[in-house]
Amino acid sequence: MATIRLGDKAPDFTADSSMGSINLYNYLGDSWGILFSHPADFTPVCTTELGTAAKFKDEFDKRNVKMLALSVDGSDSHREWIKDINEVQHTTVNFPIIADEERKVSDLYDMIHPKADNNFTVRSVFIIAPDKTVKLTLTYPASTGRNFYELLRVVDSLQLTAYHKVATPANWEHGQDVVVSPSIPTNEAKELFTKGVEEIKPYLRMTPDPTV
Ligand code: BEZ
Repeated sequence: MATIRLGDKAPDFTADSSMGSINLYNYLGDSWGILFSHPADFTPVCTTELGTAAKFKDEFDKRNVKMLALSVDGSDSHREWIKDINEVQHTTVNFPIIADEERKVSDLYDMIHPKADNNFTVRSVFIIAPDKTVKLTLTYPASTGRNFYELLRVVDSLQLTAYHKVATPANWEHGQDVVVSPSIPTNEAKELFTKGVEEIKPYLRMTPDPTV
């Protein structure tokens, strides 16, 4: 078990899931990926999270992001729980949930934080780029359900900043002005960003989102 840091290669694994055996790298192919853990099956917050995640799948698909959930129960339990999730959340869970009864994937990704709980995973999120490097890690406690709008927002930022020399400011959303990368001098930025560059301070230059 090792802490996974930004820029690390996402550890590969093969595991059982609600949709059968899954190998992470084969499942992701050339896509982006989001791997998120849940403390346990048949728990209330997790039920709302997975129903919400299913409703967001079209948005992740549009961004070429494959979804993969995990909880420390077995695949038979997952399939039974999915029936409940679909019933109460009025949705269809349409991505795999990894079965991790032996905690192999949880240990590989350091998803069990013993001082929080010795038996269950915390709510971890890993966003993985097509080259399999980890681009985002998030850790929430069991008592706080995650915000899936925020996960989409960070995917938008990661995908934008992977291809353009910009960064995204606080509370940024797709289409809003972005920050010019600090490494680019303002005179170069003015040539690069043809929609204009506003120099608020020498270190704070804004430009319209180059993708809209
Ligand atoms: C939940 O998903 O509701 C939950 C799971 C473990 C502890 C607390 C809440």
